[in-house]
Formats: sequence, structure tokens, C-alpha cells
Amino acid sequence: LFGQQRKNSQGLNLNDLAMLEKLQQDLDQMAERTWQAYPLVAGQTNTGESRPLFSPYDRDCLVGHLTISNSETIERALQQASAAFANWRLCPVETRAAYCCNAADLLEQHRSELLSLIVREGGRTVSDALAEIREAVDLCRYYAASALELCGQPQLLPGPTGENNQLLHYGRGVFVCISPWNFPVAIYLGQIIAALVTGNTVIAKPALQTSLTAMLCMQLLHQAGIPHEVLHFLPGEGVDIGRQLLGDTRVAGVAFTGSSTTAQLINRQLANRSGAIAALIAETGGQNVMIADSSAHEEQLVSDALHSAFNSAGQRCSALRVLFLPEEIADKIIARIIGAMQLLRVGSPANISNDIGPVIDQHAVAALSAHIEKLQPYAKLIYQLPLAAELNKGHFFPPTLLEIPNLSLLEQEIFGPILHVVRYASNDLANVVTAVNATGYGLTLGVHSRIKATMQYVQQHAQVGNIYINRNMIGAVVGVQPFGGMKLSGTGPKAGGPNYLHRFVTEQTVTNNI
Ligand code: SER
Repeated sequence: LFGQQRKNSQGLNLNDLAMLEKLQQDLDQMAERTWQAYPLVAGQTNTGESRPLFSPYDRDCLVGHLTISNSETIERALQQASAAFANWRLCPVETRAAYCCNAADLLEQHRSELLSLIVREGGRTVSDALAEIREAVDLCRYYAASALELCGQPQLLPGPTGENNQLLHYGRGVFVCISPWNFPVAIYLGQIIAALVTGNTVIAKPALQTSLTAMLCMQLLHQAGIPHEVLHFLPGEGVDIGRQLLGDTRVAGVAFTGSSTTAQLINRQLANRSGAIAALIAETGGQNVMIADSSAHEEQLVSDALHSAFNSAGQRCSALRVLFLPEEIADKIIARIIGAMQLLRVGSPANISNDIGPVIDQHAVAALSAHIEKLQPYAKLIYQLPLAAELNKGHFFPPTLLEIPNLSLLEQEIFGPILHVVRYASNDLANVVTAVNATGYGLTLGVHSRIKATMQYVQQHAQVGNIYINRNMIGAVVGVQPFGGMKLSGTGPKAGGPNYLHRFVTEQTVTNNI
């Protein structure tokens, strides 16, 4: 299962025309289907407020209905998750890992439904959605294998003759998993599986916008064998559900992925309650930069910058936001980027041939427009891809290229398809890296150079979690590029890495004077 034996799942060959036709058929067949999401708390029926959910690419495309969790249901989830912990903690890790592997198999078997939901509800393109399902499958198997290593056998420690010393790992208690809409399957399930497989009971709070996708995942986890009293599902508004859960001393830990501001809020809520200090695992935003020097391979630079900035409509925490170009190549590279942007196909992700889909909702469109407006006195709008009039029916935002004089103009993370360019003097690399560190964020960073000293300088001085040299800077692979940032970008655990599960367990040392 682990190391040599465990392998990531195989992807689909999207260059195979027959495969593409089959995927398009699957999507078309499910285009009219509507879905339901509601709280899943054993023995509790929640008849609260229900609301329709529409697709971000078409305001008239109904994807399903969501019933919001009410306070009674939240309390019931807390009671049950808390009561179930003692048994789940002692449930053999082999059993917990087997459930997670069953879940991986079920995700693969239900790929068509998941694909349809991610595309329609999340507005993600088919290739993004397929990669995401694959990542979720890999995370289930990776964490299962990782838990067997961590929790399977006590670690034997040295001691004097007659004394036996062991280190054991157990779950912490009730974990609240709060996930974002941009990876409604992979990040959502990654957090939940990590918590469950290490012996925690879980209350999952999905992003409101992608509740239907989360519901299907939750049903598959229960079908995989995870007991209902161990895993609870509370869809609804983050503020309301968060307030009730995070103030409760029965919660032992929180795994959160989302904005830095929300992570800070959660941190304060946990700090203000009484009782034991809760563990917080936060994976947050970035102000991600790519630094090119004049030795960069131009075509590769342009292709990687474009992919990193605009893939997923820029809605990845890893996405490129600011490209640093040395004066002597800046004009040439900018002209090439414009040329490449003109070839991007923005449109409905339900059409497999589109490259870029919508942003998640009207709030995202408004925030991106406000950002450009605010920068207007300082920035030069270099290019904005014209969008077809028919895209007015959804929440589309045009891929945009802006030139700004320096990085300090960008205070907040900009979550969408906007790429900023900053020119720098080639002998000023040290100041560029200082400016990157001064943003306070520390998630991803790209370098394009063929000079070893440049690569080495940036790698040693940039305080970021993931550095990508001479390639794009998105799409970390499970077990290959453990992913996560530092500083404002998170508390540091690396999802899909060998040490991630350590954050979900408590350690017990047993000294036995036999
Ligand atoms: N893990 C994703 C990526 O690498 C971001 O969340 O793009």
C-alpha cells in the first residue's frame, strides 16, 4: 500500500477522441438531473430552510436543492460524534484504512456522476474535474497507507533493561472539517479521510456553493463502511454553523482550507472558548509569484505562466498572480502572453473543448472587478480577453493581464483569472525575493531560469511552501509534491505528504517496568 507498492491512479487519456466523446455523452446524459443535499446526522431528520442551487455558468441551470442544517441538527452531530469517539479511536487502523480504500474504489466507480456535479455545480472544466477525482482517489489510498504506518504498530523506544518504552498514536477526538468550493471533492475528502483514518470522528461542513457534490461524496463514504455516528454532514452557511461548532468544547480539532481571513477568524473563535486547546490545521491563500530571468526559455515560460494563472479560471490557491520579468525581455514576453491569451477558449465547462470556465458566483465577479477598479490609478491594463455576449448568462470573468509597478500594491489574495506583471532590473533579484517575502504569504513560487545560481538563490531565500522550477506551478501530485504553505498561507502541514497525518493525532508514551 505504501512507498514502493502504492501507486497513484491512472488518468484518462484526453487525447483519445473516443474517450472524449464518451465523457461528453456522460455529461450530456446527466445535464438535466437534479440533486439533493441535506444534513446527514444519524437518527436526525432536518426539515429546515431549503434553497435551489444553480450552475455558475448558467443562472437558469438548476443543479439541485440544499436543506440548510439547523441548530438542533448541529447539536445532535456534536453529541453523536463525541459519543462515538471512544470506540472509533480503538477501531483497528486496518479497518479504518480498508474503509478509505473502499471509498477510493467507489469514487472511481461513480466518476461520471462526480464529473457531472463538479462541472455543473462547481463550474470546473472536464480536465480539472477528472484530475480532481483522481487526486481524491489517490489521497484516500495514500492516507490509508500512511495511517497503517503511523498507527499500525507502537513505535519501540530504547530503555534500560527491564523497561519497555513505546510511542502510540491515537485520534484527537471530534474533528470539524471545513472545505472550499474550488476543490469540492479532493480537498473536501482529503481533510475528512485524514481525520477519520487516524481515529477522529468527523463533522464535515462543505462549502455552500458545492454542497451537492459534497453530499454525493458523503454518501459514498458511508457506503464504503464509515459508520454514520462517526461521520456527520452539515451543509449550510459557514458563519452560522461555524459559530455553533467552534465555540463548543467537544471539538478537538479543525481542518480548514479557505481564505487567510477566515482561518484567522476560526483561530480566534477556538481561542476564545474554554476547555482544551484545539488543534487547527489551516491551508489558506497565497500571493504567488513567478520569477523569470533573461536566461528563461521563452516559450516554456509563456506556456507555464498562462497555465498557472488562468487554468481553473485562476481559482486555485496555488495559482500564479504576479509574473516578474527582467526589463530586457519584458516586452517580448508580454507580447507572447497576449498572443497566447487570444487563443484561450472561455465558455461553459459542459462543453469539453473550452479551456476556462466561470468563476464561482456573482460575488467573485464583483470582487475581481473591484480589484481592477482599485488598481486603475497605478496599473496599466495590458489586455483583457473579450467574452462572447452569451456568457452573460453565467458568472464569467475575462482573463486579464495588468502591469503594476510593484508587489506592495497587492494586499489581498486575488482569486481569479487576473495576471499581474512587474518589471525588474536583472541585477535586482534579491529585492524581488525580499518583496515576495514581505507579502506575508508563503504558498507557491515559480522560477524560470537556466542559471543555477538564480534557482539556488530563490530557493534558499523565498519563504514559501512549494517551489516549481522551469515548469507550471499548479496541480501538486499526491505523494510527489506534498502541498501547503507557511506564514499567512497556512499552519504548514503538507497535504499528500508523508507527515500530514501527524497533525491529526495525539501521541502517547507508555513506559512499562516489566
Ligand atoms: N493542490 C492544488 C494545486 O496544487 C491547489 O489547492 O494546484
